[in-house]
Amino acid sequence: MKVEDIKKIAVMGAGDMGHGIAEVALLAGYKVAMRDIEQRFIDKGFARIKDSLDKLVEKKKVTEEDKTKMLSNLQTFIDIAESVKDADFVVEAVPEIMDVKKQVFQALDAAAPKHAILASNTSTMSITEIASATKRPSQVVGMHFFNPPVLMKLVEVIKGKKTSDPTMQLTYDLALKMNKVPVRIEKDSPGFIYNRITAPTHILLGLLLERGLATPEEIDARMKKAGAPMGPYELLDYIGLDVLYHISRNFSDRLSRDHEPPKWLKAKVDAGELGKKTGKGIYDWSKGRPEIDLSKAKEDFDPNVLTALQVNEATKLLEEGVVKSPEDIDKAMVNGGGVAAGPFQLANEIGYDKLAKMCEELAKKFNVKVFEPTKTLKSGRPPYVPPPLPKEFF
Ligand code: 3HC
Repeated sequence: MKVEDIKKIAVMGAGDMGHGIAEVALLAGYKVAMRDIEQRFIDKGFARIKDSLDKLVEKKKVTEEDKTKMLSNLQTFIDIAESVKDADFVVEAVPEIMDVKKQVFQALDAAAPKHAILASNTSTMSITEIASATKRPSQVVGMHFFNPPVLMKLVEVIKGKKTSDPTMQLTYDLALKMNKVPVRIEKDSPGFIYNRITAPTHILLGLLLERGLATPEEIDARMKKAGAPMGPYELLDYIGLDVLYHISRNFSDRLSRDHEPPKWLKAKVDAGELGKKTGKGIYDWSKGRPEIDLSKAKEDFDPNVLTALQVNEATKLLEEGVVKSPEDIDKAMVNGGGVAAGPFQLANEIGYDKLAKMCEELAKKFNVKVFEPTKTLKSGRPPYVPPPLPKEFF
């Protein structure tokens, strides 16, 4: 199958990611089947697609006519077999629980046409393991979108052990058709690029909170003043504390116990305070996005500390052979997080020695092995030398 042969895309799940991926596919001109387990989830996902398209009409990015056509291209289902029976490409965006993913993939394999590609939007899980639930592992691939899918450009295209090259190429080409920036990940490794690189910063944010060393607003204000589109705690609420919990669990099982979900996070998840989606998380979202008072910024918190942890983790991806090109890492981080520069671009400006020292100090202070600087970071030799950042950046 070639990308031109894809006519219908089915999306499993109508939640934060599912409805957004369905909308991205509609915007690219595809017929879309969106499936969830209950009508109320489908109704909510449908309403969110409509609201988002309304915004795009308001901004004149989409015409009223196109919007009507796109909505007529969208079918919704509860029955999984019905939803995929004539799909050419399926994207799964169900909760991050391996047994649930495997059940869904088994059902997809049984009902989708033989030629259909089955993709998972998993944040961290093994594509190889998900594929093992099917009889077509060469047609199973990772296709990881970023929240909100309509606005964030990155799509990580992940190769499981048995994913074929034509499946990788087709998924890459589909992401391009969807007006996204795809990055290939050749080795099926926890968290791929973006979530792996941000994971150590989540450990630090948890420690600051748990030990009362800073309030979320103090850090978020500081980071927003430094140019972040969202404060890091606000972003955790935005992606969902349940999602963060599952990501941390997965890293704890597969990478290091340092990632074990902290007590405060488990308490929030147990209380159903999941962030934006439930109206309460670290912040109160009941009246919309939290207003962060920039005057509360903790001025003695150095934003470079978060950069140091990200650069360090990025060098691990190179050392482990998960990603071959450091440029791809910068491209992924810029397009996944809506920031102006990637970790290696920032490291080039700040200096590798300084970042290695920061990681060393953080590892000692908090007794976290994941923070320890890698050989590459300590060597002080950049994996590549990016062009200097423009003056406006500073
Ligand atoms: N559809 C259409 N338009 C939308 C929209 C949507 N779903 N969501 C927001 N917008 C529009 C808003 O209406 C607004 O339009 P305007 O400029 O005409 O008023 C515009 O986008 C900007 O939105 P806001 O004013 O609300 O806020 P921001 O300027 O801060 O932009 C943001 C919002 C693009 C989400 C930005 O804050 C951002 O880039 N945040 C970082 C997001 C990020 O890092 N995502 C990755 C998370 S990790 C992940 O997803 C991986 C997973 O596996 C966990």
